[in-house]
Amino acid sequence: MTSEPAPLPQDRRGPPRLARKKPSPELAALRQLLETTERIALEQTLGLESAMQELAAHGEELERSRQALATKSALLESVLESMASGVVAVDRHGRFTLFNEAAQRILGLGPHAGNPHDWPRSYGLYLPDGATLFPAEDLPLARALCGQTVDGAEMFVWRPDLPDGTWLSVSARPLLNSAGHIAGAMGIFRDVSRQKRAETARSEFERRLQQSNKELEEFAFAASHDLQEPLRKILAFGELLCSEYGSALPEQARDYVLRMQGGAVRMQSLIRDLLDYSRITSRGETFIAVDLSDVAREVLDHLEMRIRESTGSVELGELPAVQADPTQMFQLLQNLVANALKFRKPDVAPVVKVWGRTLQGDEQSDVGQCELTISDNGIGFEQRFADRIFGVFQRLHSRHAYEGTGIGLAICRKIVTRHGGSIQAISSPGEGARFVVRLPAARAPEVP
Ligand SMILES: Nc1ncnc2c1ncn2[C@@H]1O[C@H](COP(=O)(O)OP(=O)(O)O)[C@@H](O)[C@H]1O
Ligand SMILES: [Mg+2]
Repeated sequence: MTSEPAPLPQDRRGPPRLARKKPSPELAALRQLLETTERIALEQTLGLESAMQELAAHGEELERSRQALATKSALLESVLESMASGVVAVDRHGRFTLFNEAAQRILGLGPHAGNPHDWPRSYGLYLPDGATLFPAEDLPLARALCGQTVDGAEMFVWRPDLPDGTWLSVSARPLLNSAGHIAGAMGIFRDVSRQKRAETARSEFERRLQQSNKELEEFAFAASHDLQEPLRKILAFGELLCSEYGSALPEQARDYVLRMQGGAVRMQSLIRDLLDYSRITSRGETFIAVDLSDVAREVLDHLEMRIRESTGSVELGELPAVQADPTQMFQLLQNLVANALKFRKPDVAPVVKVWGRTLQGDEQSDVGQCELTISDNGIGFEQRFADRIFGVFQRLHSRHAYEGTGIGLAICRKIVTRHGGSIQAISSPGEGARFVVRLPAARAPEVP
């Protein structure tokens, strides 16, 4: 007997016949749409992730920059606060945006909230005369707000609570925004009261020194001038005494009179030299371009007899042109060459050399200077006396061995000082001497 197989339980029958059917086009389209959406979503998620990573990196960088900025501004603040100079800044309307501790300490007041026009009165700001209130529009900060740069403007601060007053040196600059427009200004100032007071004291001292020098020179001039007259009388009567009564006088008395005459003659030359010395500044001529070669030739003419007597020679090298008083250049060279001939060794003919050079521009401090050297082969002197010999009446050798008054080198130094130059001596005993003079070089003639 055949029987129908028992139907399988429902769950073993496999998927319903409908599932095995070819999908409908709508479903396929739907599925494709779903897949595309999924892909896009995935792509977007990936893109979002990388954007987020990038953002996080930016954030970190931003944080680092923020920290660096904070460190820098803390540093700047501590620099500003530890500075000895006052630093202030204002915006375009003159409102303070910065006012460091030193500014407050120096001015004795903090940032002023009012109109910049009131600053001079409120802070007690005066012009360098110390009496005129600083015009508000000329204040360095006000000028900087107009685009000007101010450097080292002098200002005096005085108020009843600052009785001694304070001297300021102020500089200011405009502050520009990124578009290059003036957005404000900053000022920086230093308390220069100590320097200013020292400077005032020094110039007062200098003024008094000059005054007393002038008085002394006038005194020396008047005294030596007036001394000449009685001296001339002594000499004249001494001569009369000798010529008219000489034969009647005992030998001893005649000797006394002669010695008296010798003393009077010496005094006359001392007075003449002193007069020359006192005239260097009071009767000096104006400075012009002087060719030292011409002056040196005149000096040799003048000393011709002495050169011949000494059997020596004076060699002239190339000499520069200097900006000087021509008469005094003659006096200077004449004194130096005469000394070089005079202080010679007993049995050696003197050889004197005179030469010069213009100092090179690269020797910074010597720009526009000339150097003149006078050397000899004479007796020389110990270097430790090299400064002393420039003093009035200072001599190292006896008058009997080498005649002189001891004023020549003092005159030389005074002449050189008047010209803003210097003179120094270099020597050692028996080795000759060298005198080095520095003078301003001649200025190029002005083109009209
Ligand atoms: N070229 C020289 N050589 C050696 N000694 C010198 C020379 N020039 C100056 N002196 C010393 O310096 C002193 C001062 O010189 P100076 O003032 O010219 O006086 P004076 O020529 O009248 O003696 C001289 O007395 C001498 O002792
Ligand atoms: Mg002399």
